[in-house]
Amino acid sequence: MSATPILEVVGLSAGYGKVRALHEVSLVVPHGAIVTVIGPNGAGKSTLLNGLMGLLRTSGELRFEGRSIRQRTVEDRVMQGLSLVSERRELFADMSVHDNLLLGGFSRHRRGEGGAAEQMDHVFGLFPRLKERAGQLAGTLSGGERQMLAVGRALMGRPRLLMLDEPSLGLAPRIVREVLQVVARLRDHGVSTLLVEQNARAALRLADHAYVLEGGRIALEGPAAELASNPRIVESYLGIAAPRQAADAVPLPATAPQGSP
Ligand SMILES: Nc1ncnc2c1ncn2[C@@H]1O[C@H](COP(=O)(O)OP(=O)(O)OP(=O)(O)O)[C@@H](O)[C@H]1O
Ligand SMILES: [Mg+2]
Repeated sequence: MSATPILEVVGLSAGYGKVRALHEVSLVVPHGAIVTVIGPNGAGKSTLLNGLMGLLRTSGELRFEGRSIRQRTVEDRVMQGLSLVSERRELFADMSVHDNLLLGGFSRHRRGEGGAAEQMDHVFGLFPRLKERAGQLAGTLSGGERQMLAVGRALMGRPRLLMLDEPSLGLAPRIVREVLQVVARLRDHGVSTLLVEQNARAALRLADHAYVLEGGRIALEGPAAELASNPRIVESYLGIAAPRQAADAVPLPATAPQGSP
């Protein structure tokens, strides 16, 4: 693991008009790590990711592999290896799964890198369901399949930092697990991930390090396993699992509320 983090954010602020949504947020994503940002609705999680991607003007310092990127365009950031799968999972509905994936490889093509076919095989290996549906129009996929395609398309560009905005939103627990397991496998391939989630339970189970964003500020941070046993986090974000969720969930170590296996 290299000592320079893949992403270093220092005192990042952003807002909409006069309204500030992020207040001097600082965070670090080490190489090959999964870092999660959890927090309630409206905390500024999407604003943070959009700011990192360059979709929103920010102030503060933003370094990717030690180089400042705050003044860089979105396109530049993509070329450097950042990739964002937004909450909206934008896909080309009238195009096939295969063609959506091909378009995801465009930035690599621009960099003069080949290997799109190999990368597609890699994506199909991670999400066999996409392979079965390669010819299907993206607009006709189920919610879970759309999310897999959105992540798969991002992976086609071989990002070095994958940023996921609430990948579990609206998905059944089993599909959530499937998508998050892919993130864990990507870590084994050296891909770093910044995961924004409202599903704190799943996020803390997967991540190495976690930040809690509340009202646009980092309220708490620490190793994910530590936060998972922090009483304030248990009370505000983990609560007592509903019976159905508990049955479906992978057990959370030590800190699991009573009722979990
Ligand atoms: N385009 C916008 N114009 C004005 N205000 C916005 C805009 N987008 C977000 N905001 C405001 O910024 C704050 C942070 O929003 P953001 O979408 O980043 O929250 P979030 O943590 O992603 O919430 P959620 O979990 O609901 O997705 C909110 O108060 C929101 O109303
Ligand atoms: Mg959001």
